[in-house]
Amino acid sequence: VKVGILGSGDVAQSLGTGFATLGHDVKLGTRDPKSGKLDAWKKRVGAKGSVGTFAETAEFGEILVLATLGVANRDAVRSAGPERFAGKILIDVTNPLDFSKGMPPSLAVGHTESAAEQVQRELPKTHVVKSFNIIGHTLMFRPNLPGGPPDMWICGNDAKAKQRVTQILHDFGWPSVIDLGGLDGARLLEPLCVLWVRSALALGNWETGFKLLRK
Ligand SMILES: NC(=O)c1ccc[n+]([C@@H]2O[C@H](COP(=O)([O-])OP(=O)(O)OC[C@H]3O[C@@H](n4cnc5c(N)ncnc54)[C@H](OP(=O)(O)O)[C@@H]3O)[C@@H](O)[C@H]2O)c1
Repeated sequence: VKVGILGSGDVAQSLGTGFATLGHDVKLGTRDPKSGKLDAWKKRVGAKGSVGTFAETAEFGEILVLATLGVANRDAVRSAGPERFAGKILIDVTNPLDFSKGMPPSLAVGHTESAAEQVQRELPKTHVVKSFNIIGHTLMFRPNLPGGPPDMWICGNDAKAKQRVTQILHDFGWPSVIDLGGLDGARLLEPLCVLWVRSALALGNWETGFKLLRK
């Protein structure tokens, strides 16, 4: 499958490496493809990886991932061209974090709204699925922790798109995927990121993930 990942940061690179390891063709998108900041990543993944603008990346991908600075999602999507997302699945891994008061961040939107729903409004013909936003990038692919893989949560308005993303999560090494229902579930998943950051600061350990204990 051709996967287009909008983003050039740690998350885009980790997910891109994961998809390429699984045999998919991956393009990472950035505002400045000529900056050279993705050269090392391209070298690591070899022929399976390429780099383009946001527009080229959205055009390329049969499945798309949004891995941009959360508060810049709208700018990134608009510069890519919303028509290039139509009819496709977009996995939204972003968090709308506000660092204006330093660490730990707070949320720029919440309670009655989420970044994922804002993206869905920008892209009404796209199946937005929220996932991966509650785990650090180093554990997104094959999250082998001493207690076993954590759980992963997803939500979205299209059942088939969620089935497809659940399969991707299984392929990435997440056997337990909890579906919260509609995309408004992102109002709960995005704050979990802040809980994760504050827990990491308290524990001095960023390699942590959430798991629901069940009877
Ligand atoms: N870091 C983690 O472990 C982690 C875990 C879970 C979720 N997340 C979330 O995943 C997303 C990506 O995180 P990250 O740490 O990899 O990278 P990041 O530094 O949050 O974002 C980098 C990306 O955002 C783009 N960007 C920044 N400002 C922009 C603007 N004004 N307009 C358009 N695009 C802009 C950059 O474009 P250029 O390529 O042009 O510079 C780059 O591709 C974030 O929303 C983050 O909260 C992060």
